[in-house]
Amino acid sequence: MRRSLLIFLFSAVVLLTFALHSVSTLIALLFEDASRDAIPRSEIPAPNSSLVDTRPQLIPKIIHQTYKNATIPQQWRAAQKSCVDLHPDYEYILWTDASSKEFIAKEYPWFLSTFTGYKHNIQRADAIRYFVLAHYGGVYIDLDDGCERKLDPLLSYTAFVRRTVPTGISNDLMGSIPQHPFFLRVMESLQGADRSWVLPYITIMASTGPLFLSVIWKKWLGEHANLDPETWVGRVRVLMPSEYSKHAWSFIKEYKGDSWHGGDARLIFWMGKNWALLTALGFLLAGVVGLAVWWVYSRLLTLGSRKRGAAGASPRMSPFRFVGIPRWMGGGKAQSYELVEQHDA
Ligand SMILES: *[C@@H]1O[C@H](CO)[C@@H](O)[C@H](O)[C@H]1NC(C)=O
Ligand SMILES: *[C@@H]1O[C@H](CO)[C@@H](O)[C@H](O)[C@H]1NC(C)=O
Repeated sequence: MRRSLLIFLFSAVVLLTFALHSVSTLIALLFEDASRDAIPRSEIPAPNSSLVDTRPQLIPKIIHQTYKNATIPQQWRAAQKSCVDLHPDYEYILWTDASSKEFIAKEYPWFLSTFTGYKHNIQRADAIRYFVLAHYGGVYIDLDDGCERKLDPLLSYTAFVRRTVPTGISNDLMGSIPQHPFFLRVMESLQGADRSWVLPYITIMASTGPLFLSVIWKKWLGEHANLDPETWVGRVRVLMPSEYSKHAWSFIKEYKGDSWHGGDARLIFWMGKNWALLTALGFLLAGVVGLAVWWVYSRLLTLGSRKRGAAGASPRMSPFRFVGIPRWMGGGKAQSYELVEQHDA
């Protein structure tokens, strides 16, 4: 067989194996419905209920948000105010670029070079939220998410994230006690995930964003599948969509506008909320590009062999030629040329 074809096939197999291996968790993620850890509505008092939640509150009463500096743009002030006003008994911390960097430098110096080395600001905004949750505990809320009702019932768990449809979890609303093993794991996984995936969107999602978090989460579930959920300290509860937003029992009120206009941050929040769809589209695009490259390459090979055939020994006729099986699928003349070449040699 021609050496270039061999090399191409070999790299294709290596790439495919690598892709399948890395995609196996993603595929498993598609079938993970989180039902084992879902927070049942029966554990959450009705929105205006006077029922006293007697469960102990484990997560500290701290709300964390992030923005590049302390000047919150007009379009998110209402959302921010709704959370602050509803939680007068909570501490409120806004993490700015400056205070985030200072915090990492002081508490987690081993991560500083990765943190400052990120190409996109959103990667720093993603990373800092895992660190502050693992460090101080509390609840992280995206700046465009307003609060519809008090977060208190969610403080009874040791950690929670929110489910996204059709798959995975998001990092726009998360809560944790300090030193929760899942968030420690997330923190420790950031350096290994700091890779470039060519497309900035995929890079952000896979290195620090919801795709990164979902993959770690799925692995975390797999590694602890045989533990009793009732006693497992590393358990991460999952807030389901109907308790997240747009429903009577929901905690969050989304303040969204036209996501494609009005600034980077808005687009980034929007991407984070629709990450699964966008990631699927990204993979689809990558698949189409791969196939196109394969097709062009096989055309070039065919053309090349036709030229040689015309110049050298006469090619043998192949029956496949007349049924029109593309040569790169195994039909056609590639085999005949191998024989011709062997004779030439
Ligand atoms: C709860 O009370 C507030 C104000 O008292 C009201 O606006 C809201 O609609 C009520 N929510 C539900 C689900 O009844
Ligand atoms: C924050 O950034 C905005 C836009 O980049 C700028 O207009 C504003 O002055 C900054 N605020 C502070 C306190 O630096």
